[in-house]
Amino acid sequence: MASSDLIATDIKGYLDAHARKDFLRFITCGSVDDGKSTLIGRLLHESQLIFEDQLAALEADSKRVGTRGGEIDYALLLDGLQAEREQGITIDVAYRFFSTDQRKFIVADTPGHEQYTRNMVTGASTADLAVILVDARKGVLVQTRRHSYLASLLGIRHVVLAVNKMDLVEYSEERFREIEAEYRGFAKGLGVEDVVCIPMSAVHGDNVVTVSERTPWYQGPALMEHLESVEVTDARQATPFRLPVQWVNRPSADFRGFSGTVMSGMVQPGDRVRILPSGRESTVTRIVTLEGDQPEAVAHQAVTLTLADEVDVSRGDVLTAAQAPASVADQFEATIVWMAEEPLLRGRGYLMKIGTARATATVSPVKYQVNVNTLEQQPAERLELNEVGVCELELDRAIPFDRYDENPEMGSFILIDPISNDTVGAGMLRFALRRAENVHWQAVDIDKQSRSDLKGQQPCIVWLTGLSGSGKSTIANLLERKLYALGRHTYLLDGDNVRHGLNKDLGFTAQDRVENIRRIGEVAALMVDAGLIVITSFISPFRAERRMARSLVNEEEFVEVFVDTPVEVAEERDTKGLYAKARRGEITNFTGIDSPYEPPEHAEVHIETTRLTAEEAADAIIASLRERGIIRV
Ligand code: ADX
Repeated sequence: MASSDLIATDIKGYLDAHARKDFLRFITCGSVDDGKSTLIGRLLHESQLIFEDQLAALEADSKRVGTRGGEIDYALLLDGLQAEREQGITIDVAYRFFSTDQRKFIVADTPGHEQYTRNMVTGASTADLAVILVDARKGVLVQTRRHSYLASLLGIRHVVLAVNKMDLVEYSEERFREIEAEYRGFAKGLGVEDVVCIPMSAVHGDNVVTVSERTPWYQGPALMEHLESVEVTDARQATPFRLPVQWVNRPSADFRGFSGTVMSGMVQPGDRVRILPSGRESTVTRIVTLEGDQPEAVAHQAVTLTLADEVDVSRGDVLTAAQAPASVADQFEATIVWMAEEPLLRGRGYLMKIGTARATATVSPVKYQVNVNTLEQQPAERLELNEVGVCELELDRAIPFDRYDENPEMGSFILIDPISNDTVGAGMLRFALRRAENVHWQAVDIDKQSRSDLKGQQPCIVWLTGLSGSGKSTIANLLERKLYALGRHTYLLDGDNVRHGLNKDLGFTAQDRVENIRRIGEVAALMVDAGLIVITSFISPFRAERRMARSLVNEEEFVEVFVDTPVEVAEERDTKGLYAKARRGEITNFTGIDSPYEPPEHAEVHIETTRLTAEEAADAIIASLRERGIIRV
């Protein structure tokens, strides 16, 4: 089958067939209108791997659209290709495959818009080289610096600065040298070893595939020649064996294999492997593929391994070389590239995907942020869209990993917002924090059960949430009195009160509210452990933190109560006169006025204060606790 047919019908087959040949993976990045699509379109076309029908359609399109006076408009080609997206993957990176006699290429085309940093990070994590485009008229922009910084952060060692649109500056050597000098100065600070600057006109084809006569002052290679000859090593082959288990393959009682793609290194039957995080060891007996058993498997190959012993292995575990195993930890220092409109908040829990493993990661302090223009480290409380910073991460479980600089595949992760399911950040593990190693859970003999038994009750958290002035404190107070009268052991944590002591260092920014609720969640969970019925009364405006608090105790131990008072009503009542102050601008970040409140979607109890008195509301909560078997009297 011709390779173009194979590409069209079976990309994976094509890749597997070429897995061991010389491959160059590169990314292209640039701002909108820098000519990226035109450049890639031209590379693809010149390498003669455009499918005939696409070409025909393209010619027709170019005639119709006519942006290039009847000539083929290569940008149209790529935009068409970009429309096809890999199913189920929301990240917008288009991968293109092409080859010349010298080499095979995979190019990840990443959209140039500011917001699309995440696409670049995704596309770049496996790239050997980055082609960074600038418009000769505009020169080096913030975007150029950001992309270069990200590329260096991701471990890309080869950069091509494509100074495009030279035709629009009359192929001026002076202009080119000026841009080159500025860029080289910047790249030096990044520690990128290999920078090649090429004057280009993608539209006219200057220095793209063949060296142009219009730039006689330029002695270097055309882009294609450079891509064909630049020496790169596939670090993945050289690093120790790692295979994250995608699934446990058990078709019958006498076969049990562990399937996944080899992330790095190689493996042969007879090799000792250590399974992480458990640390158990075994020996590889077979390497099974669709084409039958193999004598070895290397990076990028999808295989199923069988082991000599009946060991416990599940999805998310990593099989690693026993002599050079990965590490296991639950606290890290990491570099994070933030990609969401909403800032990264300290204390908020995000879903972390690393290889095939999943964990909940909470950011403890942001240590510093990196200014992508000056590369300076700056103090920062949080990370905003497109910002890059170094943070500490705490995970809810220990995961197998390698440092990113040692094995990028095993040290990179993405963060997902657990509520919206959007990818909000990407990151690289710098190292595990030692302190986690020396802090262990102390085993205690008297546990939650014994403490609760002594009190003769079922502990829980009754979590009241609602606007300021919604009536939470009044209801909470009545509720505690009623429980007390029933002989229950309780404790009431109230927003205003706790803010005088434990949380007196916190204000009302989103950041501080997250931390406020994080601490309250932890304290309430400790009190549940003590066997108490805890009532909390906090605005707790964000779903994410309420959910976090919920996750700290058993499912039946968390009863969320939505004290639902429309903001107009709360403002009308204005028991503390705070709404009036907020309207006058004397208080900022006031919930309901200039700070959001996210109502619960599935609260266990919903109290509409416009229909019930505080007394009735407290009774409704008691009734719900009875229904749940929390109180039996
Ligand atoms: S939370 O958002 O972090 O959960 P919390 O319940 O602790 O808030 O505190 C809210 C109380 O602080 C309000 O009832 C009100 O008395 C007072 N307060 C002062 N400033 C603000 C503000 N900007 N927004 C909301 N409440 C405020």
